[in-house]
Amino acid sequence: MSEQSISDFTRIETDVLIIGAGGAGLRAAIEASDNGAKVVVLSKSLLGKAHTVMAEGGVAASLGNVDSKDNWGIHFADTVVEGVHLGDWRLAEINAKEAPDRIYELEKYGAMFDRTPDGRILQRAFGAHTYRRLCHVGDKTGLEMIRTLEDQVLHRDIKVHDETVVTKIFKKDGRAVGALAFEMRTGKFMAIKSKAVILATGGGGRLFKVTSNSWESTGDGFALAFDAGATLMDMEMVQFHPTGMVYPPGVRGMLVTEGVRGEGGILLNSKGERFMKTYSPNKMELDARDVVARSIYNEIQEGRGTEHGGVYLQIHHKGAKFILDKLPGMHSQFLEFAGVDITKENMEVAPTTHYYMGGIKIDPEDNQTTLPGLFACGEAATGLHGANRLGGNSLIDLLVFGRRTGQSAAKYTKDAQPADVSENDIIEEISRVTGFLNKPSAVNPYELINELRDTMSKYAGIRRTEENLTTALDILLKIKGRYSEIGVAGNVRFNPGLIACFELHSLLTTGELLLRGAIQRKESRGAHFRSDYPKMSEEFKRNITWHMEGNEVKSSFSTMPELPPEMVKIVGQVEGHTQ
Ligand code: FUM
Repeated sequence: MSEQSISDFTRIETDVLIIGAGGAGLRAAIEASDNGAKVVVLSKSLLGKAHTVMAEGGVAASLGNVDSKDNWGIHFADTVVEGVHLGDWRLAEINAKEAPDRIYELEKYGAMFDRTPDGRILQRAFGAHTYRRLCHVGDKTGLEMIRTLEDQVLHRDIKVHDETVVTKIFKKDGRAVGALAFEMRTGKFMAIKSKAVILATGGGGRLFKVTSNSWESTGDGFALAFDAGATLMDMEMVQFHPTGMVYPPGVRGMLVTEGVRGEGGILLNSKGERFMKTYSPNKMELDARDVVARSIYNEIQEGRGTEHGGVYLQIHHKGAKFILDKLPGMHSQFLEFAGVDITKENMEVAPTTHYYMGGIKIDPEDNQTTLPGLFACGEAATGLHGANRLGGNSLIDLLVFGRRTGQSAAKYTKDAQPADVSENDIIEEISRVTGFLNKPSAVNPYELINELRDTMSKYAGIRRTEENLTTALDILLKIKGRYSEIGVAGNVRFNPGLIACFELHSLLTTGELLLRGAIQRKESRGAHFRSDYPKMSEEFKRNITWHMEGNEVKSSFSTMPELPPEMVKIVGQVEGHTQ
């Protein structure tokens, strides 16, 4: 136990509580506040340092500035087709229709997009987008988005508590009514009572050893929602971005933006062969992410990889001026971290765990989860991307659905009565948190996290089999069985070990549902590749949902609403081209 008293906590009351301060959380905060709600935002990392800043190459919207034939219908169809018909068409429709307005709004907020020669927002090519659609700020688009949204938040009456960890969503009468959190800097507990809660906590890339995700992405929102009784869906659908850095080991997995390939970068194996000619002669390096990632994986497995276990990505043929203008971030990233000058030399790249298409199930009209009063948006939510996400569709998802979620949560609070969170419930949760401290002969949570990561990386990556997935699940369940043994020294204040205790729980929840889903899905679809079931099966054109019944994890199959005939026509235009 720490020296801190468990009855020492601050009570905070608000209309809308937002957990997460990445693009989705900040955009939701702006909108909820503009709709008259009192808003509190909790952020696990420092404000302005969300994982969104790691998204580089661009944000998708059919402005048609470079390819004038582009329109919302083609963006919609690209999204549905690349999601391999597992996504919710209504979410894809909303996203594609509202995307251009959200880009112009961001521009009005102050975002400095790159320009066409006649002064319009410039758009670049990305894999599996029919047209050049990615609005960008060099290769630092996510950073510019966060800078702009943060500026808007700071100029509103929105209270942000950063470096704050949430451990539980409180419920009363079957709805979400607040949360318990502690501030890392002070070690102080906060009991927040709210009429609505929004989860904008991002994904769980840190479940794997090699990932583009920053330290925050440990699946916290998935676990908070699941523990509170909300339904999760399609957790087996994890995207492996084709290009992450491979060397030196300290930066392994760091994103190498698809913008490199969008600007003409080519992939070569150790024999100097442009191998995408074999795998995707028409689309080459700009095929969907799952196709390019599997092709790279295959080249490496078959012995045509580089010294450090990757393939080469070449852009120097475009010339130094072009590279410094279009990809300044990549230039400095490789120079500073790897001593490689990409204006002269090839990059070494390999697939890296990047994004969760699965997540918390929401209603497409208002982003409410299956638990009343609990909303979710951004990577924490599922349904838009189906089995495979298009590059740039996550950044636009944050803006479109961040805004809509802020709006619906604010609306919900107009009728919702504030519910009291009892002192007992608060103290019980604080005791649970402090219970991890200074336990005699406790197991170090990092040991179990490392074992879990090794297991997931070895058995549940790009290529999956029944045998490997079952092995991984057995190991995971053993680790889960040891959860009650973990503990750390010290107190609540600035204690990364204590945070790891909660992250381990989040990672276990995320990993268990991923593995169980991957075992159940006996087919290959989008990012989920089963080498023992390499074909897509009509039987599995269904979503796998997860919920808790008592202490038991339960699953069921559900299907998305059928595309209406007018949408079938729109999708047909793109499918006709891709077949
Ligand atoms: O490659 C990239 O720049 C990543 C973008 C995305 O995942 O949307």
